[in-house]
Amino acid sequence: MYQALYRKWRPRIFDDVVGQEPITTTLKAQVKAKKTAHAYLFTGTRGTGKTTCSKILAKAVNCPNVTDGNPCGVCEICRGVDDGTLMDVVEIDAASNNGVDNIRDLRDEANFTPAVAKMRVYIIDETHMLSTGAFNALLKIMEEPPEHVLFILATTEAHKVPATIASRCQRFDFKRIDSGVIAKRLQAVARQEEIPLQEEAALTIASLSDGGMRDALSLLDLCSARSGDITAQVVLDCAGIVGREYLFAIAEAVIGGDAAAALEIVQTLYQRSISVDKLCSELTEHFRNLMVAKSVKDLGKFVSCLPTELEKLREQAAKVGTSRILYVMNVLQEATSRLSRSSSQRMDLELCIFQMCSPQLSTDPKALLARIEQLEQTISVLRRTGLPPAVPDREQSNPPDDPGFVPQTPIEESTPPALQDPGCADGVQAPEEKPTARRFKPWSKVVGRLVHVNPALAGALKDSKAYEAGDLLLIETDNVLFLQLMRQNDYAKTSIREALLQETGRKFRLGPYRNETVEKEEKNPLDILSQRAMDAGIPVERVGTAEN
Ligand SMILES: Nc1ncnc2c1ncn2[C@@H]1O[C@H](COP(=O)(O)OP(=O)(O)OP(=O)(O)O)[C@@H](O)[C@H]1O
Ligand SMILES: [Mg+2]
Ligand SMILES: [Zn+2]
Repeated sequence: MYQALYRKWRPRIFDDVVGQEPITTTLKAQVKAKKTAHAYLFTGTRGTGKTTCSKILAKAVNCPNVTDGNPCGVCEICRGVDDGTLMDVVEIDAASNNGVDNIRDLRDEANFTPAVAKMRVYIIDETHMLSTGAFNALLKIMEEPPEHVLFILATTEAHKVPATIASRCQRFDFKRIDSGVIAKRLQAVARQEEIPLQEEAALTIASLSDGGMRDALSLLDLCSARSGDITAQVVLDCAGIVGREYLFAIAEAVIGGDAAAALEIVQTLYQRSISVDKLCSELTEHFRNLMVAKSVKDLGKFVSCLPTELEKLREQAAKVGTSRILYVMNVLQEATSRLSRSSSQRMDLELCIFQMCSPQLSTDPKALLARIEQLEQTISVLRRTGLPPAVPDREQSNPPDDPGFVPQTPIEESTPPALQDPGCADGVQAPEEKPTARRFKPWSKVVGRLVHVNPALAGALKDSKAYEAGDLLLIETDNVLFLQLMRQNDYAKTSIREALLQETGRKFRLGPYRNETVEKEEKNPLDILSQRAMDAGIPVERVGTAEN
């Protein structure tokens, strides 16, 4: 029958236990000096050697052929402990035997001298699972333990063991095993099992195991069943790890202040249906890792990631300042805390990305507060009504002679827009057959107005330009957030129209400006334009004369 590697390779003597030298050295010394305690508490994370050392200790106090504190491993007693047939060594799994009766039985039995061995040993695994009654019964025996009894309590959760019990034990804390040490052990096991394990693969397994040897050996098992030659990639595939390239890529964009690039990555992650929560926490962790990478030399000790990622972390960390990282983590934290209450997580995330990319937007704490306040308002309106905050759409609700709408002579005569070089559009006279859209001068003022009304939108329009062609205003930007805001809600469109109206007193229709030459001149440029607008997801209203 196939035996799992971690079972097969359970250390039989103290010297085979790796990464827990302070503990094994002490225990060996006690065995040698015949000065073992009557009760031990072994604590620490999963798969680090607690049960293993319990069994070795049970053998060591009973084996007639101890050498240097290690049990011989071959005598009848050692073999009896290893295969669980020696009556005097009792393993109790407190997870399934946690009642007071189990411990009472144990107490009655403990008074009898051992049948074969020198000591009766009780190994209580998952001790923290014992019921209160069971703990009390256990305490009774531990208060006056018979000479021939040894208790070894093992637990991952020492704080759940009552102090009255813990204080009667000698306590040993099992540490997470260093990934280098785990990798070495894996190599040793692989060599003897004739599993072709590449060094990088061993390191990859080790770093994925978070200090636990059982997990490491189990993963090795899994990999060797899958493939002949175990490479780092095989390990990643077996562990079901998708590359975390995207975290580096988003961070790269954030550090470079490139919101469009960051948003584009997020967009593709959406298509792979990654959750916003998860992405936020992964990003937080990534920037935390960058912070650590800036501060410590021995990075592998502090961050749990693949060996190949360590170097990349260092490189990326070198490109960004500490205060920037702190700022980003702060933005992420705020976004995370908003998420649970948000009805539009995706927009929250996009805003968060935008903020991370543009710290200059929030050097003034008041401005930041104002933005958050605005966002909260938007969210609360959204949550209450399921609709974007209502800003009256004057185009529809106001008659043309309404004083709120002041029709003025357009600054330029209404000319059909051509999608041309903005240099040409900007003041330079265009050839007659290619009428142009002109640079819209008051644009920065319009965007300035938006800062208070719709900060996310204002941010997204930071580097934009606008051109006017009659009552059509063409906005030029490659900011993805802008396109999404326009696509997602009318509030964005309404905000711009309002701001335009306030700034110029004119009513505009909106469209995207593309810096290209019209290919088919016989086509109505407006048709081309509205087609492009629709391609970009911006609804363009074709009303009145343009349609005829
Ligand atoms: N320090 C170690 N050195 C070598 N192998 C180890 C070590 N710790 C654990 N192992 C391996 O992992 C397996 C499980 O270890 P063990 O049962 O001792 O873990 P544990 O600490 O009791 O974990 P849990 O808290 O999950 O019970 C062992 O059989 C052995 O193969
Ligand atoms: Mg255990
Ligand atoms: Zn022995």
